[in-house]
Amino acid sequence: MQLSFGAPGAIGTGTLVVGATDGATLLPAAVKADKASGGAITRALGFSRFKGKPNQMLEILAPAGVRASRIILVGLGKPGDIDGPRIENAAATIIARLQTAGETEATFDLDVPKGAKAKGGNFAAHVATGALLRSYTFNGYRTKNLDEHEHKLKTVRVATSDTAAAKRAFADSEAIANGVFLARNLVNEPPNVLSPQEFAKRAKATLSKVGVKVDILGEAEMKKLGMGALLGVGQGSERESQLVVMRWNGARGKNAQPVAFVGKGVCFDSGGLSLKTGAGMMGMKGDMGGAAAVTGTMLALAGRKAKVNAIGVIGLVENMPDGKAQRPDDVVKSMSGQTIEVLNTDAEGRLVLADALWYAQTKFKPKFVIDLATLTGAIMTALGLEHAGLFSNDDKLAGRISEAGKDAGEPVWRLPLGPGYDKALRSKIADMKNIGGPYAGSITAAQFLQRFVVEKTPWAHLDIAGVAWQDGEQKPHIPSWGTGWGVRVLNKLIEDHYEG
Ligand code: BES
Ligand code: MN
Ligand code: ZN
Repeated sequence: MQLSFGAPGAIGTGTLVVGATDGATLLPAAVKADKASGGAITRALGFSRFKGKPNQMLEILAPAGVRASRIILVGLGKPGDIDGPRIENAAATIIARLQTAGETEATFDLDVPKGAKAKGGNFAAHVATGALLRSYTFNGYRTKNLDEHEHKLKTVRVATSDTAAAKRAFADSEAIANGVFLARNLVNEPPNVLSPQEFAKRAKATLSKVGVKVDILGEAEMKKLGMGALLGVGQGSERESQLVVMRWNGARGKNAQPVAFVGKGVCFDSGGLSLKTGAGMMGMKGDMGGAAAVTGTMLALAGRKAKVNAIGVIGLVENMPDGKAQRPDDVVKSMSGQTIEVLNTDAEGRLVLADALWYAQTKFKPKFVIDLATLTGAIMTALGLEHAGLFSNDDKLAGRISEAGKDAGEPVWRLPLGPGYDKALRSKIADMKNIGGPYAGSITAAQFLQRFVVEKTPWAHLDIAGVAWQDGEQKPHIPSWGTGWGVRVLNKLIEDHYEG
């Protein structure tokens, strides 16, 4: 799909997309299109329920008097509520419609409503970003009906009065979208193909090209480092566990203290000997969504040459039952020296993160560390599929992540931590056990991780089990199963607070 910006102009071929705000108030380009088509929009409004609400659509086919194949009027809602995510969703909704319709070209001519939060070239860049994020496909495993799945939409123009500013803003969006697409690809990839080694190989191949240094540690090296918690999870798998360390050095001061991201990368979570049910296992190829988000974020930061030093550490394992698999009741020793009684081999993500977190903090002494993990089913019970769970030992960092999430269209909701919850992890024979009691499963999982936070390091944990993939369509800008969730919020956090 070719995306370009240009001055608002005459009505061309393909679909013309014009806008309306709350109460079906036509924006100037819509008024113009209405006139040019002999009042086709006004007439159609009389036969519809269109009220200009967000993502509402009114489609007029082959309007008389203009060259356009269609005019689509799209709702933007109340002007004061029109922010980046709102615009992106509107554009993505239209793109989805045009793909279904088999349209080949389109022009968005959306005037910036007075009072909108996004303005000028930025507004147009959000339109293009929504279109781009929706254009993603994952068809590599289809051999049939490709014409049904491949998109015909090849040319999308976005009209704006400030082409230069739009181009500038969109250059970054393209880099970020590349990160999102990489994360989606990794999550969508089937687990027979995407083993820990294959994931590591792809991360290295992709990131090396944009100047990210990538080191891969195998089981022998991790053993030397004492990563008994991570290694225990992978020991029932035929495939070798990997730790991938990614370094982007973009800060002006080459030795500036880095930020660090850590990701759970369970390439398939069968539960191990605490085996999941058949239904519970479906989708567990996506249990590396945290690692995918970290990898995608590194690509986004490098792609837009972010002025920050950033570290990504991902623990890649496959959690399988086998004669060599870890048993419920085993005790393992983590890199931190703390021992863990593994009472449930399906609570494996925290074991992987325990060592990956410890490694990232002790090796790189970061300004902060944020981990992302599809950690608990319980987070979906608490928050559904709308918010990721946020846990943190640092109010400032938590506040910044919350803000960035809102602005980037990846909202988070903070949940509490506290010593009362931590008690649930007491073990009869070791320093801790890897499961809590029957309640607050997401919080006790976060408490577990907090035991691997090096003193005073600002830390945040994002439980993304509800948002890393989606069944069916929930968000217009996400056409696929893997969402790439995390890349945009982390990128925004860096952009807003940690560059320069
Ligand atoms: N990967 C799962 C969490 C998960 C479940 C993610 C459903 C996405 C959808 C995690 O490893 C797990 O199995 N967690 C257990 C923890 C329990 C054994 C304490 C869970 O949530 O049931
Ligand atoms: Mn599990
Ligand atoms: Zn898991």
